[in-house]
Amino acid sequence: MDVYEAADLLKKGEVVAFPTETVYGLGADAWNSSAIKKVFEIKGRPADNPLIVHLHEKKQIHDFCSNIPEHAHILIDAFWPGPLTLVLKKRPEVLDSVTAGLGTVALRIPNHPIALQLLKLAGALVAPSANRSGKPSSTKSQHVSTDFGSSFPVIDGMATKIGLESTVIDVSSQIPVILRPGAISKKQLEEVLGIRIVESFSQTSATPKSPGQKYSHYKPTAAVSWLPTDVPPTKENALYLLQNPSIKTLNQVCYHGDLTALAQELYDRFRQADRDGVKEIIIESLPTSHSLYTALTNRISKAIDS
Ligand code: TXA
Ligand code: MG
Repeated sequence: MDVYEAADLLKKGEVVAFPTETVYGLGADAWNSSAIKKVFEIKGRPADNPLIVHLHEKKQIHDFCSNIPEHAHILIDAFWPGPLTLVLKKRPEVLDSVTAGLGTVALRIPNHPIALQLLKLAGALVAPSANRSGKPSSTKSQHVSTDFGSSFPVIDGMATKIGLESTVIDVSSQIPVILRPGAISKKQLEEVLGIRIVESFSQTSATPKSPGQKYSHYKPTAAVSWLPTDVPPTKENALYLLQNPSIKTLNQVCYHGDLTALAQELYDRFRQADRDGVKEIIIESLPTSHSLYTALTNRISKAIDS
């Protein structure tokens, strides 16, 4: 489907999937509550998990928020368009279905030409990742078709560049808090802001700051686990995702420390394993020095959690 057809459908209150630089999004008009309801139904998403509003230009932020703090301005100037979502105090007009009734709204400008053109034509869109709730995100249009059927409207933009969802940072209070790690790292954010920031993305709290944290995510049907150091990697119906080329298994892909490539491919590997009937995906621990270490370890750990 092309961008113009997609924009027409969106303006009629339909839901359309589109590529961003992170993962594919399931777009709907951010001001149309019945369109937003469809997004929750299509995904099977719990109603208390709020959505990210996607914009194409910075000034649209004023439609959703008043009183934008200095930290937000600094981050917007440094990272938009890009894989950074800001959580800010919302204007009262913003629909409760977008924010799940919270006093804040999440916003980002994606860095992808198709997404930006679509947002320009159709206006602000909510866009959760285009996958069934709990499953790995979609990084190719074929993934969207697998999850929602071959006739589901999707703009094909090839494989997404980053492959992991955006970094989510709450700047609604004095000390910024990272709610979800992504390609923009804590170090990059601290350098730009010139202050220390807090991370809060463990699942220990019963009432997490970001409602999405309490649900299971990114899980293929195959069981995911970390490669133990003391057991030889000899399982038969398993896919091994490795860093160390000297380990030999029956079915493996070695990334040699290239976490950019692993991030791009992770969800596709998960989905391919399910298509191939592979029962286990076993992943070697990642090099801590890489800027994607935290985001990738977070996604893999969640895919492992039962
Ligand atoms: O890269 C991305 O962010 C992708 C692409 C499509 O842009 N979108 C995405 O959306 O990952 P979704 O819905 O799968 O994840 C949004 C996350 C959830 O964990 C949600 O709980 C959190 O953002 N979130 C949204 N609004 C929030 C708010 N007001 N306060 C705290 N967390 C919020
Ligand atoms: Mg998601």
